[in-house]
Amino acid sequence: MNQYIADNKDRFINELLDMLRIPSVSADPKFKQDVIRTAEFVAEKLRQAGADNVALCETAGYPIVYGDKIIDPSLPTVLVYGHYDVQPADPYELWHSPPFEPVIKDGKIYARGACDDKGQMYMHVKAFEVMMENNILPCNVKFMIEGEEEVGSENLATFVKGNKEKLSADVILISDTGMLGNDTPSITTGLRGMSYLEVEVTGPNRDLHSGLYGGAVANPINILCQMIASLHDEHNHITIPGFYDNVQELSQEERAEMARAPFDLEKYKKALDLSDVHGEEGYSTMERNSIRPTLDVNGIWGGYTGEGAKTVIPSKAFAKISMRLVPNQTSAEITEKFQKHFVSIAPKSVKVVVKPHHGGEPVVTPTDSIAYQAASRAYEETFGVKPVPVRSGGSIPIVAMFKSELGLDSVLMGFGLDSDAIHSPNENFGVFNFMKGIETIPLFYRYYAEMNK
Ligand code: BES
Ligand code: MN
Ligand code: MN
Repeated sequence: MNQYIADNKDRFINELLDMLRIPSVSADPKFKQDVIRTAEFVAEKLRQAGADNVALCETAGYPIVYGDKIIDPSLPTVLVYGHYDVQPADPYELWHSPPFEPVIKDGKIYARGACDDKGQMYMHVKAFEVMMENNILPCNVKFMIEGEEEVGSENLATFVKGNKEKLSADVILISDTGMLGNDTPSITTGLRGMSYLEVEVTGPNRDLHSGLYGGAVANPINILCQMIASLHDEHNHITIPGFYDNVQELSQEERAEMARAPFDLEKYKKALDLSDVHGEEGYSTMERNSIRPTLDVNGIWGGYTGEGAKTVIPSKAFAKISMRLVPNQTSAEITEKFQKHFVSIAPKSVKVVVKPHHGGEPVVTPTDSIAYQAASRAYEETFGVKPVPVRSGGSIPIVAMFKSELGLDSVLMGFGLDSDAIHSPNENFGVFNFMKGIETIPLFYRYYAEMNK
């Protein structure tokens, strides 16, 4: 197996580069044809690797790529999930090389989607090829690769609900997360949920001269800023009534266990050019970005932002706000609490509208399952050290749905690093990580099948 991987390394990388050249930005309709082309690319590669029943399953949005290999219905089945869509690449001017013209520099592949999730998803396609070509696929496998993860996976949710039989499996396998470091592998055991919404504050019915009206009418930008600022108190707790009601507090033992994961605060600050970190009082940085809920403004706009100056009181101000959720908060509950509170704190001088976007539920995955143990053994073999379980702050909303709709736990075998800059300019993925993934995944199948006997 390892000989086959070594012999085909260059081709594996070149195929990934080919896929990275297609700008599959799901958020922007101008890339529609490219997103569909990427689905076709993935389908073709699955077919070439030996998958059966390969098809683009149409949805109300972008197609879901399906393929499977059922070698024996009495053996366990692994359902692989990943996504072929990517985040927008803006701002382009901050990239050192164009986002859709991948280059390899210092052992890293630079391109939008290199890590999230084309590079990681493609490790599974190649690991499958490796197992097929070497006649070592030890159980059944199904692939479900979607094109709308970065915009909320709403059509995938419908697809999952309507295709439970087709998707029947024993475990879900996903590489769409990270690990602590190349010498400290980790397995993600939790993801935060999300409530995403947009707010609109309206003052006067038109933009006004700020000299003639300034001081006498509400400026919706000033008001919006005050309202947003009031959502955190001086301890950086979120002030929305009932926000923490359902938050599961970890025991002192669990927190002590978490604190044992290697983390270097000085390095962390240095990597981000920060003189200090910032967050909820009473919690460490690792806790703040994984087991605690958050509220962040993701964008804010209004008024005049062009060249020079324009003295105006704008009619409207807007913001996009997301809250990351932890067990046992739900997105419906938190969206409602936000909406109620935000409207209630608005002064009479403005009108406020809150528009919910999308949501997703938090999830914690078991570490005592056969699947987790198999993954742990696989990493231990390829990295030489036992991986540590780590809860992540990111979100993959479909993972909680896999549990609630299909009754299946997921194993989050990520190979990315914080320095991969996912969603940022100069996203990259180590060739080392890509190849380690291709080596580690077949070992997961081996141990998973063995331990199921
Ligand atoms: N792959 C990421 C999520 C992720 C990254 C989880 C690293 C853990 C570690 C995924 O593509 C993503 O970006 N998810 C979005 C949520 C979605 C609803 C847009 C996120 O977390 O913001
Ligand atoms: Mn992703
Ligand atoms: Mn992403």
